[in-house]
Amino acid sequence: MDRYAVMGYPVAHSLSPQIHALFAKATGQPMVYERIGPHPEAFEEAVAQFRSQGGKGLNITLPFKERAYALADRRSARAQAAGAANTLDFRAGDIYADNTDGVGLVRDLERNLGCKLLGRSVLLLGAGGAARGVVEPLLAAGVTRLVVANRTPSRAEILLDQLRHSGGIAPDRMSHCMACGLDGIPQGSYHFIINATSGSLSGEVPALPGWVFGPQALAYDMVYGKGSTPFMTLARDQGVARSVDGLGMLVEQAAESFHLWRGVYPETAPVLQLLRAELG
Ligand code: ATR
Repeated sequence: MDRYAVMGYPVAHSLSPQIHALFAKATGQPMVYERIGPHPEAFEEAVAQFRSQGGKGLNITLPFKERAYALADRRSARAQAAGAANTLDFRAGDIYADNTDGVGLVRDLERNLGCKLLGRSVLLLGAGGAARGVVEPLLAAGVTRLVVANRTPSRAEILLDQLRHSGGIAPDRMSHCMACGLDGIPQGSYHFIINATSGSLSGEVPALPGWVFGPQALAYDMVYGKGSTPFMTLARDQGVARSVDGLGMLVEQAAESFHLWRGVYPETAPVLQLLRAELG
């Protein structure tokens, strides 16, 4: 049996072991997938120990994604764009870092939710790691207007500057992006309003003008939980067409990690359906 695990702190809430167990069963892959919650000071040691015990790969969650990226010997282009890794692969004898969060969001929007991103406008809220990981994949999917709005406007500007300099935003797409504060969002209609702020984890929503939630818009919260998140409720109350959580993104990023490790792409719809039913 090949060993995999998710590492985070805390990690008890992670659905990744259940998701990967379902993928492994459906595709007949001989693997086990555990949950490891090292003390923050001991993250690098825990990765080394898992590798020395024959572990084949890891998923990395908060707060270790940047440190996982720093640990790597090789990095995918999308991990480089994100400056963070959610997937490590040890099979080649070294540490390969990838980031499947952005592609997970794009797949959830396009495949599960049936949305078109080509030529669309996105208002992305937040300028931390969660926002950074999805900028390049959204632009690559054809988004032609991407406004990154953050409570601290300078952080949104820094985020875009860093992505421009690292090649995370291709030169021909730079004119599609802009940064601003939550009170400086350019007027217009946004097809997608994506919440990548960490406030959601504690039930806080960004202070937004009501007009951003147009009747044609889809509001997407990267977090998930039982029922609607506070951001989903706010967006729905303000009149958006649809309001969804990040459970689909979680399942899709897991499928992409699974594919990297095992070379097989698992079906995601049944897993998403099952988790949705369990969450209630
Ligand atoms: P992560 O890696 O999860 O993105 P982070 O790097 O700490 O976490 O970034 C958190 C993001 O959520 C930031 O953009 C933060 O805004 P600031 O840069 O102004 O701190 C945003 N955020 C957190 N709580 C928020 C709230 N209540 N309202 C608006 N934005 C919030």
